[in-house]
Amino acid sequence: MDLNVLVLPGDGIGPEVTREAVKVLQAVAVLAGHRLDTAEGLIGGAALAATGEPLPPETRARARTAGAVLLGAVGSPEFDSLPPDRRPERGLLDLRQAMGVYANLRPVRAWAPLAGTSPLKDAVVTGTDLLIVRELTGGLYYGRPRGLFGDGPAAEAVNTMQYSYGEVERVARIAFAGARRRRGRVTSVDKSNVLECSRLWRRVVEDVAADFPDIGLEHMLVDTCAMQLILNPGRFDVLLTENMFGDILSDEAAVLAGSIGLLASASLGAVGPGGGRAGLYEPVHGSAPDLAGRGAANPIGAIGSAAALLRFSFGLGREADAVERAIGAVIAAGVLTADLRPDRPAETTAVGDAVCAALRRAA
Ligand code: IPM
Ligand code: MN
Repeated sequence: MDLNVLVLPGDGIGPEVTREAVKVLQAVAVLAGHRLDTAEGLIGGAALAATGEPLPPETRARARTAGAVLLGAVGSPEFDSLPPDRRPERGLLDLRQAMGVYANLRPVRAWAPLAGTSPLKDAVVTGTDLLIVRELTGGLYYGRPRGLFGDGPAAEAVNTMQYSYGEVERVARIAFAGARRRRGRVTSVDKSNVLECSRLWRRVVEDVAADFPDIGLEHMLVDTCAMQLILNPGRFDVLLTENMFGDILSDEAAVLAGSIGLLASASLGAVGPGGGRAGLYEPVHGSAPDLAGRGAANPIGAIGSAAALLRFSFGLGREADAVERAIGAVIAAGVLTADLRPDRPAETTAVGDAVCAALRRAA
């Protein structure tokens, strides 16, 4: 099989972690007899510096034709004072929209060998295995009108939260289908005691649930959910929520895993005419400018994202399972970067090499 992947390293630690993920994809390709064909493109601060735009037209066009897109991270303090349209983050938001990847899947699990690395008690964290399904191309991030107007005490700003029935329905279907492959429970998170968007959200989720009678559904307010996530994370299977709530809850959930550096994500769009879905894969951690260039970044989130890429964009479930097992073996062996093992940290490249070695051993 030809694995055609556009790699967008981006900013900060993005280039270092995507390099390890590509290394792992290459190892998989060699072991399983596929041909990996990667090309690199510009996004974020790197693209702003080179072209003046956070998402150059060339990157946008290539992302739409690539089999899958693997992204590192965007964001750089050098652009902090610029308006939203000239910031690195805009490149990622525009890319998600251009690719139409409306469902962002963020699995979070507590790895047994990492017990003790979370600041939460082991008894709370043990057994955590949840999947956040975050709506990714709507809500406050994209709603119009938006803007910051005026100066001084007369200044005003506006953002708009807006959802259509269809936008909620398609992401809800992904969550229910995901629950079917897991423990069969969906928790839909909203703020329906205050927001009309959330009242619509609840109504649509109820409608979709009618098509999935085998799946259990509960609704939870987002403030309660923020508390339940650290009180009793084991109660969650699939957590379905809108864009902004999902952004916030997924960083919170990272604490359950021990480090945000471990978290992978897959962003999926509609099934195209060729039968495939658009797919954008990125670790959940950001660009971490303070860590960049020091060989200290944890590549496991990026490598896990590469596993998701194999699974969802190329239908290579067996290969994806193998990468995930190799990640587990490396974690069990204690080959970990400083975020998880400050006493004897492994370098970024050593973790990538260890995952490749574990893959070869298992083959
Ligand atoms: C994420 C990030 C992005 C988001 C930023 C970089 C725009 O925080 O993927 O969670 O808010 O979606
Ligand atoms: Mn975030």
